[in-house]
Amino acid sequence: MHDERILSAEAVDDDQTVELSLRPRLLREYIGQQKVKDNLEISVSAARNRRETLDHVLLFGPPGLGKTTLANIIANEMNAGIKTSSGPVIEKAGDLAAILTNLEEGDVFFIDEIHRLAPQIEEILYSAMEDFRLDVIIGQGAGARTVKIEIPRFTLIGATTRAGLLTAPLRARFGIVHRLDFYDADALTVIVERSADILGIVATRDGAVEIARRSRGTPRIANRLLRRVRDFAEVRHDGGVSLDVANKALEMLEVDEYGLDEIDRKIIGAVIERFGGGPVGVGSIASSIAEDKGTIEDLYEPYLIQIGFLQRTPRGRVATPQAYAHLGYTGRAGSAPPQNKLF
Ligand code: ADE
Repeated sequence: MHDERILSAEAVDDDQTVELSLRPRLLREYIGQQKVKDNLEISVSAARNRRETLDHVLLFGPPGLGKTTLANIIANEMNAGIKTSSGPVIEKAGDLAAILTNLEEGDVFFIDEIHRLAPQIEEILYSAMEDFRLDVIIGQGAGARTVKIEIPRFTLIGATTRAGLLTAPLRARFGIVHRLDFYDADALTVIVERSADILGIVATRDGAVEIARRSRGTPRIANRLLRRVRDFAEVRHDGGVSLDVANKALEMLEVDEYGLDEIDRKIIGAVIERFGGGPVGVGSIASSIAEDKGTIEDLYEPYLIQIGFLQRTPRGRVATPQAYAHLGYTGRAGSAPPQNKLF
């Protein structure tokens, strides 16, 4: 499981409700991911004009970039209903059959974390996706037989943090595949300003830019930081989000100028201090800082690679000179530790 204590908005129920209210409902309200948006616009329009069900869609990319939001938008744009589930939740063939037989023609069935589907569930999904048919085995041994059940034509939207985790036969059954990338600071600034508007927060442009810059290219984090900065602004200032207020609040939250938090710094620190700067495997990094390996791979590492602090090599992860500089080291392994020790 992901440990999303730090990076997501899921800790507080209230935050989750607010987060939902901030999600765009239509493609034209969706900011950033221009290529994905343009392509989906065409796929959706074409299917709508032909009065067909949209082809199955696979969305992959790091958490918090809008996969679930896009799935809901696609259903909206297709004027279709949506049923949502998640890979590890669908445990039995009957669970899947219950969902699929209850779909209406053209509905979207969204499976988050689709890479975590049990193999026997995945098998059933193949014929459902391809022929809109369920092959259910009834009975056991010599008396067992397969019953074929027709199901409505539907669009499966699968989301996963890494496409590489999917089996080849499952991946091959998606006609539309898109990767979501980290957002640039401009797009995130627009998202922060839009969210501030919806929440009735007065934010200056440079205040919004600062929150965007420190949000690791991730709207979910940007929205969470915006709410935390608002808390700070209300308690310590006049409630407005200026650059100064944003800086002070983010400093208090220990979100540094790259948006890195304590765990990011622990990861880089471990690579540098305990493994001589690398190369080192993710498993070794994970056990040395008592974090979950999958969490590091899905949640932390992609952004550290994106900003050029970590490199993925065939022999493991390597800390780059930028990472050394950011943590205050003067050179490669063996150099003096930073003045202001972080751990
Ligand atoms: N809120 C979260 N993600 C968003 C996006 N991509 N566009 C607009 N608002 C958002």
